[in-house]
Amino acid sequence: MNDKKIHLRERDIPDHWYNLAADLPNALQPPRNPGSLEPLRPEEMTPLFAEALVEQEISSERWIPIPEAVRAAYSVWRPTPMIRATGLEAALETPAEIWYKWEGVSPAGSHKPNSAIPQAYYNAREGVRRLTTETGAGQWGSSLSYACAQFGLACHIYMVRVSFNQKPYRASMMRTWGATVHPSPSDQTETGKRILAEDRDNNGSLGIAISEAVEEALAGEDVHYALGSVLNHVLLHQTVVGQEFRKQMEMVDRWPDVMVGCVGGGSNFGGFAFPFMSEVLDGGKATRFVAVEPAACPTLTRGRIAYDFGDTVGLTPLIRMHTLGSGFMPPGIHTGGLRYHGMAPLVSAAVEQGIVEPIAIGQLDAFAAGLLFARTEGIVPAPEANHAVHGAILEAERCRAESRKEVIAFNLCGHGHMDMSAYDAYLGNQLQDVPHDEQALALALSHLPKVG
Ligand SMILES: Cc1ncc(COP(=O)(O)O)c(C=O)c1O
Repeated sequence: MNDKKIHLRERDIPDHWYNLAADLPNALQPPRNPGSLEPLRPEEMTPLFAEALVEQEISSERWIPIPEAVRAAYSVWRPTPMIRATGLEAALETPAEIWYKWEGVSPAGSHKPNSAIPQAYYNAREGVRRLTTETGAGQWGSSLSYACAQFGLACHIYMVRVSFNQKPYRASMMRTWGATVHPSPSDQTETGKRILAEDRDNNGSLGIAISEAVEEALAGEDVHYALGSVLNHVLLHQTVVGQEFRKQMEMVDRWPDVMVGCVGGGSNFGGFAFPFMSEVLDGGKATRFVAVEPAACPTLTRGRIAYDFGDTVGLTPLIRMHTLGSGFMPPGIHTGGLRYHGMAPLVSAAVEQGIVEPIAIGQLDAFAAGLLFARTEGIVPAPEANHAVHGAILEAERCRAESRKEVIAFNLCGHGHMDMSAYDAYLGNQLQDVPHDEQALALALSHLPKVG
């Protein structure tokens, strides 16, 4: 089989999302109200989220139908191709096959519109007029701006300041689609004003930007908040990626021995890997699942599983997940999308239950992998995706050392066309591996809420 690129047809766009919660050996723990510490009731979530999304958030149904309007919107860029990285294989002299799913073909350039589209759709259907959100690298902010434009919603975005300065064209994209963008911390919210009063040069973090977006949503009429990762419904929406990839693997008569993805909040990894897990859990198939995170923000490898806030200020419910502590401020690495203190409960549970192996890598290794990929395969990956590329390279090198002809699969979740300042910094030897601050981590973990 010499196929390089495997395409599906429009009618192959999945018609259901897959919910891993139905198949996890140990059930997920519910989110809790931070005041009463009782499990959160669905009606406590509806001030922020559309009812349909709340239903999905707490659902344990295995398959959830995708509305036709959402499939139609997906069809602008889905199904996405699966490509064999033959150039990379040759450069690594590995006997393994390396296949990747290419999500950078969406209008915003990553997997993020897979959830932005249904979130905008359900909110518009329920009469909401405006969505607020945070964004790190800008991929999620541009995806939600795009989706809001498709469904006639206004969109307000709080963009982590360090990324706002590093990636001005991401904000330009968001404005092109009609959104309003504020660098966070901003002077638009009480949260932002308080943080700026203490530290005018605060770099911002996803946790702070979430606090600002949630504050705005709670204060307004007809306004909801949208999150681009972490929550069950977001990972659910992303499972179109893995379902398509399964079909594409079947077309070349393959099953992956190992699946690799980068993890910030867990959505591209979960969406890619979850649709393969039920056969592995029931013992029918053997696949290793490897989640790659940055060493500067090592949530899965150095965090603790505990109930914690999803934001810095403490406006969200308590979520049981791997966390570095909601007050942890990751260093300003060039991979904004992976600078988050928490993790999706579904991914955390899969790690806790021994289904997923996490690893942490430095940004120099990640960019070296991105460069090798660009030079052998042509595509310039997003800095986040470089973590997955490096994870796949480590597996290919292991296969070379052990003379094993395995099938390695990874999710190339986005392109890096708006991230060229990061590549410039790497090419100009300006990047370093930034270790996280151990004392700051210990301090942040010492402030975890006490739950049970
Ligand atoms: C291209 C890209 N990949 C990955 C991520 C990390 O998020 P997640 O772990 O939810 O996929 C982001 C987040 O902004 C991103 O922009």
